[in-house]
Amino acid sequence: MSPPKGEMILVTGGAGYIGSHTIKALLSRGYEVVALDNLSVGHREFVLCEEFVEADLLDREALERVFREYPIRSVIHFAARTAVGESVENPEIYYYNNVVGTLNLLSAMRKRGVEEIVFSSSAAVYGDPEQIPIPEDHPKRPKSPYGRTKLMMEEVLADYARAYGIGYVALRYFNAAGSDPEGVIGEWHDPETHLIPIVLEAALGVRDYVEIFGTDYPTPDGTCIRDFIHVVDLAEAHVLALERLREGRASPAYNLGTGVGHSVRKVIEVCREVTGREIRVVEGPRRPGDPPALVADPTKAEQELGWEPRFTELEEIVATAWEWMLKLYGHR
Ligand code: UFG
Repeated sequence: MSPPKGEMILVTGGAGYIGSHTIKALLSRGYEVVALDNLSVGHREFVLCEEFVEADLLDREALERVFREYPIRSVIHFAARTAVGESVENPEIYYYNNVVGTLNLLSAMRKRGVEEIVFSSSAAVYGDPEQIPIPEDHPKRPKSPYGRTKLMMEEVLADYARAYGIGYVALRYFNAAGSDPEGVIGEWHDPETHLIPIVLEAALGVRDYVEIFGTDYPTPDGTCIRDFIHVVDLAEAHVLALERLREGRASPAYNLGTGVGHSVRKVIEVCREVTGREIRVVEGPRRPGDPPALVADPTKAEQELGWEPRFTELEEIVATAWEWMLKLYGHR
């Protein structure tokens, strides 16, 4: 079935990493999209749809204007601050942007009778896992203000669903990685804190070395284990979640990961293989707040959404990240 004409999807945070890849996926399926972003961390040139509004979720008037001006049927909500460490140092930014910003968005939606929202959540809602892989009903004990904002908003959405009939799906991402294989958009954070781009910057010579945060974890090689999921697979899951939501068949939350974990040392090894370059490694202390292992149980998303990640090998994920990085830094 082709998407209905004259109805638009509002993508907040559409200039960000996962938002821009999701817009690309929506456009390829024929959806009409309007992107909203305050460009605090996003990149205007990553927005591939024609309609773009530069606005902040804290600006209620601007938000209401967007809903008046465009025939919005559904919202996919990415706009948020996402750095765990920063959220510990400066929680106020997180509670305003992620919580108040989302409340403003929901109130603008309600004013116009918009009742579908796909929400960007995170594995950070779980905190230290009691079991691996992690199912959706695992206890939620977030360890950072960032994780708490995501959990709070899931709870707000559940209350709004009961009271006001808002339909929602929360997608809990594990470690988003990789870039658009066509090289049009990609991962670009400033400052960069994520493992794969940091390792690739070391391969490129943009950094002198990569520091491993902790080598004494209770894991086979002593380093943390993460479940890396390709951003294109995440984008695909948003389209599927929106479709299930419209059919009234969506669950409140889905884990998005491959179900396979890789250690930090393994990631560095794969980056060496893919790039064919030297990567200097320095072993450092643990980074506070890092759980030893985070691996998704993605069964529910596979069964209910019919979601099947295309990029199941770490090599493939790293290869798309590397192609993008070569482009970003002009083929050093
Ligand atoms: N790491 C290093 N050296 C680095 C950077 C990272 O050893 O220079 C390690 C980290 O200690 C961690 C792993 O690599 O063990 C992955 O770290 P990232 O910063 O890439 O990702 P996180 O797992 O910390 O964070 C991700 C998302 C967050 C989300 C979190 C859930 O980026 O948004 O998962 O816990 F909140």
